[in-house]
Formats: sequence, structure tokens, C-alpha cells
Amino acid sequence: MIQKKVLAAYEQLAHSYNQRIDHKPHNAYYDRPNTLGLLPEISGTKILDAGCGPGKYTEILLEKGAEVHSFDLSPKMIEEAQKRNGNRGKFFLHDLTQPLIQYQDGVFDVVLCALALDYIPDWTQTIVEFNRLLRPEGVVVASFGHPFFEFNYFSAKQYFSTEPVKTIWRGFGEPVEMHSYRRSLEECLLPFTNNGFYIDRLIEPKPTKEFAKFDERHYLELSVFPSFLCLRAKKKTHL
Ligand SMILES: C[S@@+](CC[C@H](N)C(=O)[O-])C[C@H]1O[C@@H](n2cnc3c(N)ncnc32)[C@H](O)[C@@H]1O
Repeated sequence: MIQKKVLAAYEQLAHSYNQRIDHKPHNAYYDRPNTLGLLPEISGTKILDAGCGPGKYTEILLEKGAEVHSFDLSPKMIEEAQKRNGNRGKFFLHDLTQPLIQYQDGVFDVVLCALALDYIPDWTQTIVEFNRLLRPEGVVVASFGHPFFEFNYFSAKQYFSTEPVKTIWRGFGEPVEMHSYRRSLEECLLPFTNNGFYIDRLIEPKPTKEFAKFDERHYLELSVFPSFLCLRAKKKTHL
């Protein structure tokens, strides 16, 4: 398991991640506009922000009038998220792979899981739990590494295997070794479609124009080949 290494990396990154998240191009001008575009009308809804990091998504959802409950594996990320959002949100430590026993069935309208599923090897139990927590026709909106991008980026040889991979992140000050899992497209979609969801929107995101002002090289690369995938999965009313 890579979880200890993932936790150590995010503990190290939390402060600078929070300082950069408002304008870091891959987040602010690539992931967020595309992922937020998949959300339904959220004013008055109850949302679970799963793997909330420094709480930037939580901040946006609160501003749009949602009630937001947010969790992360990293205590320092939760501290940053609390500092950013004051007492407007509800923040707690939790591991995505474990059940959220404090919540009854069907209490959320939306589960948002942005760029956090990449750190767990098998999404099945997590998606089963999201399904339990959502009301009928509630949605999961998720973003994660695009399987075709990651196959190339990590020079993988076995497309169908889910495998641990690592890279060095240099965009947050001190270089940090980041561990995650790459997987096939099927392994991204089957945990949803086998467990009470249908996929009702799927986006291969493109960067917004603002991206180019901050990082032209990656803007050009992402304009011709995606590195993330964003989807919306709706809970079926009947299995
Ligand atoms: C790339 S950051 C994304 C943060 C936030 N969702 C965003 O998009 O701004 C990934 C986050 O997932 C968290 N994470 C990784 N593994 C996790 C797990 N097993 N359970 C909960 N959170 C996890 C990390 O601590 C980190 O804060």
C-alpha cells in the first residue's frame, strides 16, 4: 500500500498547496472549471466533498449556497481547509476507503470527489459507500487522471493492470515524491456502472484561455491531449 507515502506527501505539501490552489493552472483553469460544470444546481443542496484538500471546492460550494461536509486523509489539509472556510463548513479526517458510519443512507444530494480517487487502488467500496450516502438520482461528480495520459506518462506496459506509480511534483516549492495508481478506463467506469450508477456526463477537459497566461507549454499540451477525465454518475432509482 502506498497510503503512508501519499499521506506524508500531502502533509508536506498542505500549506503551499493551499497558497497556490486559487491560481495553480491545472486546478484553477483545467480541473475546476470542467468539474464544476458537471454539478447540478446546488443552492440548498447537501454536498459531501470527499478528499477536500485545502477546501477550495468547499469554499466555492458554500458560496453557491450548499451545505458542505468535507473530509480528507491529511490533518494538515483539514487545518488549511478550516482556516480557508472558518466555521462555515464541517471538516473531518477520514479515509476514502472506509465507510462513513456517522451518516445515514440517502442524506446527500451530491458527492464531489476531485482528484482524490487516484490514490486508492480499487474504487469499488468507495463508490458503493457513495451510492449508500446519496438520495435516489443524487450524483457523484469526480475527476481523476486520464487513463490514456497516465499510460503514456508513466511508460506503462500492462494497460489492463492497476499499478502503483510515482513521479516528482515540482510545482509546490520543494520537490515532493507523489505516489498514486494508474488504471485502465474500464477500472474507472465499472466501479460506478456495476454499483447502482449510470454515467450521465463524461468530459475530456480542455484548459481555459487563462491557463495560457500562467503556463503556455502545458496549455498547448492539454489543448491537444487530456490529462484528466471528469464524470458525473447518477444514482439509479432501481438497481
Ligand atoms: C490533488 S489533492 C485534491 C484536493 C481537492 N479535492 C482539490 O481538488 O482541490 C488530493 C487530496 O486527496 C487526499 N487523499 C488522498 N488519499 C486519500 C484517502 N484515502 N482518503 C481521503 N483523502 C485522500 C489528499 O490528502 C489530498 O488532499
